[in-house]
Amino acid sequence: MQGKLLVVGSLNMDLVVGVAHLPHMGETILGGKFDTIPGGKGANQAVAAARTGAAVTMIGRVGRDGFGDVLRDSAAKDGIDIRCVTVDPQQATGVALITVDANGQNTIVVASGANLALSLADLESAREAFAQASVLVLQLEIPLEIVRQAVRMAREYGLKVVLNPAPAQVLETELLSAVDYLIPNEGEALQMAGAQTLDAAIAGLQKLGARSLIITLGENGVLVVDADGRRHIPAYAVKPVDTVAAGDAFVGAFATGLAEGLSVDQAVGLGNAAAAISVTRHGAQPSLPVRAEVDQFRGTK
Ligand code: ATP
Ligand code: RIB
Repeated sequence: MQGKLLVVGSLNMDLVVGVAHLPHMGETILGGKFDTIPGGKGANQAVAAARTGAAVTMIGRVGRDGFGDVLRDSAAKDGIDIRCVTVDPQQATGVALITVDANGQNTIVVASGANLALSLADLESAREAFAQASVLVLQLEIPLEIVRQAVRMAREYGLKVVLNPAPAQVLETELLSAVDYLIPNEGEALQMAGAQTLDAAIAGLQKLGARSLIITLGENGVLVVDADGRRHIPAYAVKPVDTVAAGDAFVGAFATGLAEGLSVDQAVGLGNAAAAISVTRHGAQPSLPVRAEVDQFRGTK
């Protein structure tokens, strides 16, 4: 069954330079090749979901500029419905300045631009998209008031809500308790709960209202904590070259699985496989696999 997914989130053009090592504070280094690559957590997750088989609609904002045109075109080429990705004449398209080192580790600085101009009116005029979807996927690269309102609308229309709280910020119980699946990485979980250990972070997030917690642990896989208890689902063993968008690959494919009616653990398996493939390739959206690749990869493991 093909699931219908709605992503409300960011679109960025990633400005990427490969480096031998990530620069220390105050250090100037010479980098390698420079690339402009479609990214942004919202768009990456939309693409990951579309490539793994979901019908995806995206709500977002870009500027009226070359980067905005490229981002809209590339999302449309992935079959994403971009009629609700507004072109804002007053804002620049979001960009992310990314360095990737020889071990595939990265630093990312985002200049949000048009993403922060996403408005309540944009959500209001996309009610039809809420009415048609079964799963809503959100991140935190857009204004928090938009995230809150999108969650309220999802509740109104009966959608399951997946929140990837990245970049991390402390969120209130009213919001967290309305989210069905909270998917932070380990650092985000610690930061949101103000905790020093993963156990303390889990307890803290549950106290704040989180119900199903799906914590990604990089090469160590995923920890699921929900009403069925706590279980660890390992990652696939691969040699990473670039981990940019690993989390997005996971979230997008996980959401596809949910929208298809898979169990949480099955959807985590799909997410782990898509994310493992993504870390073996460079860039954000170019690294995201299609479903046939994911199925073939899982068949060989
Ligand atoms: P990023 O910020 O790099 O996009 P993240 O910090 O949001 O990612 P991670 O927990 O690092 O998220 O990774 C998300 C998922 O990607 C992991 O749960 C795992 O499934 C997969 N993954 C990441 N790194 C590796 C790796 N080295 N080998 C295999 N799978 C990996
Ligand atoms: O998660 C990776 C993404 O974070 C990049 O594509 C970049 O645009 C930032 O939003």
